[in-house]
Amino acid sequence: TLQQTNWAGRRLVKYDGFWYQLPFFPPILSVQKYFRAKNRDIILASFPKSGTTWLKALTFSIVNRNDLNISLLTSNNPHELVPFLEFDLYLHQENPDLQHLSCPKIFSTHIPFKSLPESIRESKCKVIYICRNPLDQFISHLHFFLENTKKNDSVPLLELDEYFDMYCQGIHPFGPICDHMLGYWNAHLENLNKVLFLKYEDLKQDTAFYIKKIAEFLEYPFSVEEEKQGVIEEISRLCSFENLKNLEVNKTGHIGVVKKSSFFRKGEVGDWTNYITPAMAERFKKMMESKFEGSGLMFNI
Ligand code: A3P
Repeated sequence: TLQQTNWAGRRLVKYDGFWYQLPFFPPILSVQKYFRAKNRDIILASFPKSGTTWLKALTFSIVNRNDLNISLLTSNNPHELVPFLEFDLYLHQENPDLQHLSCPKIFSTHIPFKSLPESIRESKCKVIYICRNPLDQFISHLHFFLENTKKNDSVPLLELDEYFDMYCQGIHPFGPICDHMLGYWNAHLENLNKVLFLKYEDLKQDTAFYIKKIAEFLEYPFSVEEEKQGVIEEISRLCSFENLKNLEVNKTGHIGVVKKSSFFRKGEVGDWTNYITPAMAERFKKMMESKFEGSGLMFNI
């Protein structure tokens, strides 16, 4: 039997060191059991609310840039173009047929590295991981959770410091966050050609540089001609927070039970300082520093 806990009225189960919301736990086991990665597949991995939507838009645009498909980004939410393994493909079917998806297939997941299906590690498929300052992640997630929780849900809305206390203990969907990041960080260090490790803050600072880096990593490098034509800047603009947020397709409607608009809130670095006290930040920082010690991974808190 698995350890369980109550997280804001939701049941979380602990499996192999990580917490999962109960409804999404069986799909994770199905992914482990049935998903077979192919060499050309691309896996976008992330901790929730770390820039997944942005990474989906960028990767989709990079690999489809010579194809009319790129215009799909203006008529579809990025999550409709790049499905989650555990929330979309394996949610209602134990072993779905993935043949119909266009190639190269791009999948996304929040599953921790150690719990990925073996075929992801054993095939030549590429993995891109994005993470973010954990305090910004926490604030982003809290807004996302509240925004998508109906008032008449029987969910007791906790105070920020109660959520934060659980967060520091690692109790959060797909948490503990530091272990999640370390899993992909170590995999990246072990094989730089297999796992690309990105931080939201770096992408914000120099988007064009990372678009090039992603393209090279995926073996879809930009030609000199393309660079001259400004293709990188065009992808950067197309996938920018302002552009995506203001597209009609992202303003209304839902994906499952989630409001499409809730994927685009503020899109900034450092919003946590508006909510988290210095004492709370200090608590998290101490915990983070001891987890990350000697790893080379760090965030400014
Ligand atoms: P905030 O809540 O801080 O605004 P995810 O995509 O993993 O769910 O993460 C969502 C976070 O990324 C939200 O952060 C959201 O606003 C931000 N975001 C979404 N699209 C973005 C984009 N194109 N560029 C930068 N940030 C983006």
